[in-house]
Amino acid sequence: MAGEMQKWVLMATAQTPTNIAVIKYWGKRNEDLILAINDSISVTLDPAHLCTTTTVAVSPTFDQDRMWLNGKEISLLGGRYQNCLREIRSRATDLEDEKQGIKITKKEWEKLHVHIASHNNFPTAAGLASSAAGFACLVYSLAKLMNVKEDQGALSAIARQGSGSACRSLYGGFVKWVMGKEENGSDSIAVQLADEKHWDDLVIVIAVVSSRQKETSSTSGMRDTVETSMLIQHRAKEVVPKRIIQMEDAIKKHDFAAFADLTCADSNQFHAVCLDTYPPIFYMNDTSHKIISCVEKWNRSAGTPQVAYTFDAGPNAVLIARNRKTAAELLQRLLFHFPPNSDTDLNSYVIGDKSILQDAG
Ligand code: DP6
Repeated sequence: MAGEMQKWVLMATAQTPTNIAVIKYWGKRNEDLILAINDSISVTLDPAHLCTTTTVAVSPTFDQDRMWLNGKEISLLGGRYQNCLREIRSRATDLEDEKQGIKITKKEWEKLHVHIASHNNFPTAAGLASSAAGFACLVYSLAKLMNVKEDQGALSAIARQGSGSACRSLYGGFVKWVMGKEENGSDSIAVQLADEKHWDDLVIVIAVVSSRQKETSSTSGMRDTVETSMLIQHRAKEVVPKRIIQMEDAIKKHDFAAFADLTCADSNQFHAVCLDTYPPIFYMNDTSHKIISCVEKWNRSAGTPQVAYTFDAGPNAVLIARNRKTAAELLQRLLFHFPPNSDTDLNSYVIGDKSILQDAG
């Protein structure tokens, strides 16, 4: 490392989009390592609308690890942050920055503290998968800073230890989180099923029903589900494995009818499992239910699905239209059924595409 008293700062920035599951992850078999009870499949979104940007910095003048989220300092004491930091630090390699004349050896990384500044361009913890983009971006930017040479799969296993769904945000396009079999989680990683160019007719519209923070976090909600729901075992063992195969096939063949049927059915089963939890969990509200009815009616009258809907741990609707023309019609229909300044006014629409994780300097 360059001289003791030198006041250098080394930085790395990354931008990571969030992802939306079309076959949901809900339930863990290991809480500490974050190992799921079933595989899941997601679509990674366009970072223009829903992404996290994280800058990580290291300097000999920093005396502790610190993090700011959307400008406010947050505690790094939680096990999840510590797990990600520890895993990345242990994989740091020698680094030489010729421009600044800095050399950091593998050993020296262990003693250096990091400062992390993260920013979401969308409401945090409102069921828009903010933790997914957040931990994926944290792990990716730290890996870049510390010259970690692992592949995306290995990085996804580290991001998974921050938040399960985060492992899927390491890739663009369609991504599967393989639950794995190993007890230490080494094979519980994300794999890309198809890249962001595949099936680019699809348009994703997010109708923000509420940007308030959700009442039950995914973490505690799924813990209660695993402890109390009888349906969850049937879902994880019987239903999801078949749906994963069918969904992979639908994605490969651009089969929108199968894709939409599976996506809607899986969202509905996830919320049924929430209702089967004690105490029951209600993530959707009346407006969410009205959006479902509206889409179901349209799909039935069209004779074949035009739009798929899916809801995560919150009331906001993620709507996937089969193409741009359908997306335009979807927006018209939403404006008609949920007029601005009415009781069911939707806060905003976010329109996106599939996309990829980016280096941002
Ligand atoms: C409904 O990944 O937020 O969005 O692993 O406890 O951090 P933790 O949970 P999280 O759960 C996401 C649940 C979901 C479905 C999904 O994204 O697959």
